[in-house]
Amino acid sequence: MTAPSAPPPAASVSMAVRIGSLELRNPILTASGTYGLGYEFARLADLSKIGGVVGKTVTMTPRIGNPPPRTFETAGGMLNSIGLMNPGWDGFVRDTLPRIRELPCPFILNVAGKSEDEFVELTRRAGELVGIAALELNLSCPNVAGGLDFSAKPELTERIVARCRAVYPLPIFAKLSPNVGDIVAIAQAAERGGADALSCVNTYLGTAIDWRRAKTIFPRGIAGLSGPAIKPMALLATMRVAAAVKIPVVGIGGIAKADDVLEYLVAGATAVQIGTACFWDPGHPVRLAADVETAVRTAGICDVQTLIGTVQPSPAPAANPAPAPGSCNVGGTNPR
Ligand SMILES: Cc1cc2nc3c(=O)[nH]c(=O)nc-3n(C[C@H](O)[C@H](O)[C@H](O)COP(=O)(O)O)c2cc1C
Repeated sequence: MTAPSAPPPAASVSMAVRIGSLELRNPILTASGTYGLGYEFARLADLSKIGGVVGKTVTMTPRIGNPPPRTFETAGGMLNSIGLMNPGWDGFVRDTLPRIRELPCPFILNVAGKSEDEFVELTRRAGELVGIAALELNLSCPNVAGGLDFSAKPELTERIVARCRAVYPLPIFAKLSPNVGDIVAIAQAAERGGADALSCVNTYLGTAIDWRRAKTIFPRGIAGLSGPAIKPMALLATMRVAAAVKIPVVGIGGIAKADDVLEYLVAGATAVQIGTACFWDPGHPVRLAADVETAVRTAGICDVQTLIGTVQPSPAPAANPAPAPGSCNVGGTNPR
C-alpha cells in the first residue's frame, strides 16, 4: 500500500478574513498592550503586511500605571503588572490619533472604563473619531482594581456590551478574561449584548515570589501571565467559546509560530492576536503573517477561511487485540 501523497501547493491563496463589516487582509493582529499604538513600530516593520493593530488600552483619564517592577520573566512566558498606563482620552485624541491615521493597516481601539457609564461614554466618543476601524472593550484587565469585574458576571457583560453597541456603529470586540468560572457563559452574554467578535483571552492571573525576602515580586501581589506558557489553556478557551457562539472569535494567548496561528484557526478562531512574541522582535507579526501564508499554500489550501473551526476530536485508538495464547503481554492489558 502506498502512503497518501501530499496535496500540491496551492497556486494562489486568499488570506483575507472578515469580522463583522471589518475586512482584514490576513488573520494576524497585534495584541493590546504589546505593540504600543502601532505607529511607534511603523518604521521597524511593514505593517501593511498584517491584518491590523490593536492599541494599548485607553482610559478616560491618564494613568501613570503601577509601581515597578512591571514585568517578570517566567518559564515560557512573562508576568506583567503595567496597570493600564496611558495618556487618557484627551491625550490619545490630541497626540496619537493623527499618527494612527497614517498606519497602513486597520487600527482597533481598545478602551477600558472604570464604570459601566464610562465604558459607554468612551465608546460613544470613539464613534465620533475618523481613523478607527473597530473597538475592543477591555472587560478583563487583571492589573487594576475592579478591572476583572466587568467580565465576571454574564448580566453585567451583556448590559455593558449592549449599551456600547447602541452608541457605536462599527464592529465591537469584547475582550474576555480567562480568570472566570465559566468563560463560555460570559462569551454568550457578550454575544447576546451585540458584540461582533470575542477576543479570547486576556492574561491569566499569576504571581512571582522572592522567597529569600519572603516578598511578592510585584507590589500588588498579582500579575497577568502571557506567552507560550498559556497557549494550551487559551487554545482550549478559544475552542470552547468558538463552539458555543455564532460570532467570530479572535484567539489570543502564547502565539509565536505559524503552527500556533493555524491551530487557533482550526480551533475556531477567525483571527488571532500576537502579544508577548512582539517583545522578542517587533517584526515578528509581519514574519508570522508570511509564514502562515506559506504553510497554508504548502498544504494546498486556497482559502485560509476554510480552516476555521474544522477541529474534530481525535478518534480513539482501536482496542488492543487480545494477546495470542502464550505471547507476552504488551500495551494496556498488562495484568500486573
Ligand atoms: C506587557 C503587557 C501589557 C498588556 N496590556 C494590555 C492592555 O493594556 N489591554 C489589554 O486588553 N490587554 C493587555 N495585555 C494582554 C494582551 O493583549 C494579551 O491578551 C495577552 O498578553 C495574551 O497574549 P500573548 O500570550 O500572546 O501575550 C497586555 C499583555 C502584556 C504582556
